[in-house]
Amino acid sequence: MYKEIVIEHFMNPRNVGVIENPDGYAQVESSVCGDMMEIYLRIEGDRIADIKFRTFGCAAAIASSSLASEWIKGKTIAEAAQITDEQIAEELGLPEPKLHCSVLAISALHAALEDYFKRHPEARPSIADAAAQGNDA
Ligand code: FES
Repeated sequence: MYKEIVIEHFMNPRNVGVIENPDGYAQVESSVCGDMMEIYLRIEGDRIADIKFRTFGCAAAIASSSLASEWIKGKTIAEAAQITDEQIAEELGLPEPKLHCSVLAISALHAALEDYFKRHPEARPSIADAAAQGNDA
């Protein structure tokens, strides 16, 4: 049922672990299945210098978390915020019943960024910044 890329990330997940005193942290739970993910961010300037996660969930959730962490690490906050669960699901070729598993990783990222913005309100991108980057959501 799973593509090779899912198995590979599941067997060798990238960026698993914790960051002590993270700049952004979140713990989220899937409303669909109850699986859980923790995400830790180290932010330097406007860039996500490091990311660690712990996912207590299915193979698709762990693969989604691993792939998302690869894509997020080293990106600017604005770039990372534009990664969608649809992109993760498409890259992994997740079947329809497993689409919610990719939502967990992106929800956790957004929650961890929100945690960071609460501590650093000056870093929150303005609506004008988002519009300039083509994000009119
Ligand atoms: S079944 Fe719960 S995240 Fe995949």
